[in-house]
Amino acid sequence: MQSIQVALTANPYEISIASGNLERLGAKCRALSLGAKIVVVSNPTVFGHYGDRVIATLKQAGFEVSYCELPDGEQYKTLNSIAKIYDCALESHLERSSTLVALGGGVIGDMTGFAAATWLRGINVVQVPTTLLAMVDSSIGGKTGVNHPQGDKNLIGAFYQPRLVLTDPDVLATLKPREFRAGMAEVIKYAIIGDDELFDRLERADGLKQSDVDAELLSTILTRSASAKAEIVSKDEHELIGLRATLNYGHTIGHAIESVTTYQVNHGEAVAMGMVAAGKLAVELKLWTQQDAQRQADVIRQADLSLTLPPGIDLDRIIAALKSDKKVKAGKGVFILPTRIGATKTVGYEVSNITQDLVSDPLINQVLTAMLPIPTT
Ligand code: NAD
Ligand code: GLY
Repeated sequence: MQSIQVALTANPYEISIASGNLERLGAKCRALSLGAKIVVVSNPTVFGHYGDRVIATLKQAGFEVSYCELPDGEQYKTLNSIAKIYDCALESHLERSSTLVALGGGVIGDMTGFAAATWLRGINVVQVPTTLLAMVDSSIGGKTGVNHPQGDKNLIGAFYQPRLVLTDPDVLATLKPREFRAGMAEVIKYAIIGDDELFDRLERADGLKQSDVDAELLSTILTRSASAKAEIVSKDEHELIGLRATLNYGHTIGHAIESVTTYQVNHGEAVAMGMVAAGKLAVELKLWTQQDAQRQADVIRQADLSLTLPPGIDLDRIIAALKSDKKVKAGKGVFILPTRIGATKTVGYEVSNITQDLVSDPLINQVLTAMLPIPTT
């Protein structure tokens, strides 16, 4: 069993990682002295697998529990779904001391966190991540929110920390391989931005597909990723000093790919493509070696993630989407680019200014063109 602390001064919390943890959820919530009422928020896919066990452990611990069901999918990460959670909160007569339990992947986790941040000006939220991506990233650190139909992802949101993150790796047994590899993209991200030992471990593995990853490697992946995120969040909770921004490695272009493909490419798959693109930008700007970019590409390939963009994707739309990124202001933004395996640098992005040391649209266009799949005739 691993217990990692997110050492925030105002609202510290534990990330508990252990096989069989699902059954400990009730006792863990009881130990936090949460109020009597709990609403479990999930979707039919996840609740069908784990809902009964989660409800049972919470009831055994003495909580009054109800269930709030949302439809499954990124396309439902909307204010309409938040309104459904509010309806559930109202029906269950939740009070300030009450709790929402997010049982699911990053979509359920982000929405439940946002509903908890805003209902009654803030009630408790406990994250029970059920995808690899949510275990290593989205359940930790308090970024919550939903997408706007006409804008960038996660445009509507709040920083709101959970009271507990409870991870049970056993639930990954029912995860589809596609979702597992999406999570591996975020794991590779942690390795590139700050953990060369984790990178070596990934590189030495006999494959990084779901079927290749044994319990020991999975434990290393979960613990090192969660520890890295906990440390970064505890030092830069609100992304003010540039440290938390390093977690956006691969995400700038990744988010644009997600929105241009209307989420047909999922978050992790898009982040992997975004890391390949960022790696190429770093090589072009002479910040990174071609050898290290190749090592990154090899690990991404080992995880069965694509190194090329979806066929037929419109590069102009990707570049246009970059400009609506919430972090780009007046045509200026930043990219997180690697300088070696385990370190990054923040590099300016000036939409039209072509210089040797900035990211610009023509340079982005050049690296994305190199990532287009070769057409078969
Ligand atoms: P997801 O939540 O859509 O889950 C993927 C699929 O797996 C869904 O169909 C889900 O129902 C299913 N599923 C979940 N757990 C399962 C299990 N144990 N067994 C079987 N099926 C299961 O996707 P995701 O990749 O977990 O999360 C992506 C979201 O996370 C995006 O919206 C992204 O913006 C967000 N995100 C947030 C942060 C953050 O810091 N808040 C960080 C990274 C990503
Ligand atoms: N996933 C990026 C962050 O939490 O800051």
